[in-house]
Amino acid sequence: MNKLTKHQVSQALSPAASNSKGLRISPEDLLARTNGRVDLEALGQLAGQSIINPRQFDRRTVNAIAQMAAVLEMRNVEIDKPLDGKIAITAFFEPSTRTRLSFESAVQRLDGKVLSVPDGQVTGIAKGESLADIGEMFNTYGDVVIMRHPDTNSMEEIRRNLQRPLINAGNGSGHHPTQALIDWYALLKWRPELATEHCPPERRIHLGIIGTPGSMRAVKSFLRISLMFPGAVSKITIISEMADPVGLDLTEPIEQSVIPITITNDVQKVLPDLDVLYVNSIAFLGDSYRNLDARYKLDRNSKLKPGAVIMHPLARNQELSEDLDETEHNLYFAQAAGAVFVRQAILTAVLDRLDRINGI
Ligand code: CP
Repeated sequence: MNKLTKHQVSQALSPAASNSKGLRISPEDLLARTNGRVDLEALGQLAGQSIINPRQFDRRTVNAIAQMAAVLEMRNVEIDKPLDGKIAITAFFEPSTRTRLSFESAVQRLDGKVLSVPDGQVTGIAKGESLADIGEMFNTYGDVVIMRHPDTNSMEEIRRNLQRPLINAGNGSGHHPTQALIDWYALLKWRPELATEHCPPERRIHLGIIGTPGSMRAVKSFLRISLMFPGAVSKITIISEMADPVGLDLTEPIEQSVIPITITNDVQKVLPDLDVLYVNSIAFLGDSYRNLDARYKLDRNSKLKPGAVIMHPLARNQELSEDLDETEHNLYFAQAAGAVFVRQAILTAVLDRLDRINGI
């Protein structure tokens, strides 16, 4: 298990992007690989759109969001005040550390304003009000709604009346599309060749996913987007104690994918062959949660390939030991540090304010 080299530690970039431990990954190389330009045509398609499910995206849009996030990470665009006059409503009916606060930070750093519901019990929900009626109210209160809710059907429910763009910040065991875009932003910064049409074979990744995509929304969305990167992802191995961890949502895209996908419950066997290992801890089971089986715990004694990276949407539990934090395998803190920039890119596009950012 290698400690970070002095060179890796010195790759610090914008102070706003820095994570305290683990790899630090540069947005510069990613932009350079994509000719230094943002694909505004692809990004512009998001204007006025809701973001509910990663199937809305394609590889070009994922790359465009990552390019835009890289620009935002490298440059101080706050002086352009791109979200001036816009109000975002963050409505969280389920706990969150990262998603709500990074969305709110994203809005406020770009001069927008936030109306925050950090706990659904402070709304009329506590008195039996419906999400559809709350959606009707939000039409006059804000310009975009970012919602998390434990019910998979909640997005459809609020959209019965909501006419503003809605961003899914996690709906039960459904999806977490902006998390998956953050995950891919980290991967593309870590290995920018993955963003190109012709990734050299030796730079392609064998991706391991520990968990059950069918009941883990972040894992499901990450896998859905990963399927859009044939030629960059050479192989996917899902590591789960369940015989069929994939779930109905992804059955068809997996069947249609040209990326070979295998399922195993033997983490020790596959670990030394993985370039990227995506871990999550929490599976949603109706109205309760379940943590990963103890056999999938990773720590400094795990037989990881040299140079392999671990990703995790966080929050973590026992499955990811803190003794990995100071190692070259820790991509998860850098992954989290990119959240504000990705969410700024999404909000600027959805709110049709790309033209307010000078020089892109
Ligand atoms: N990654 C993620 O969704 O974290 P939170 O639950 O803290 O928002």
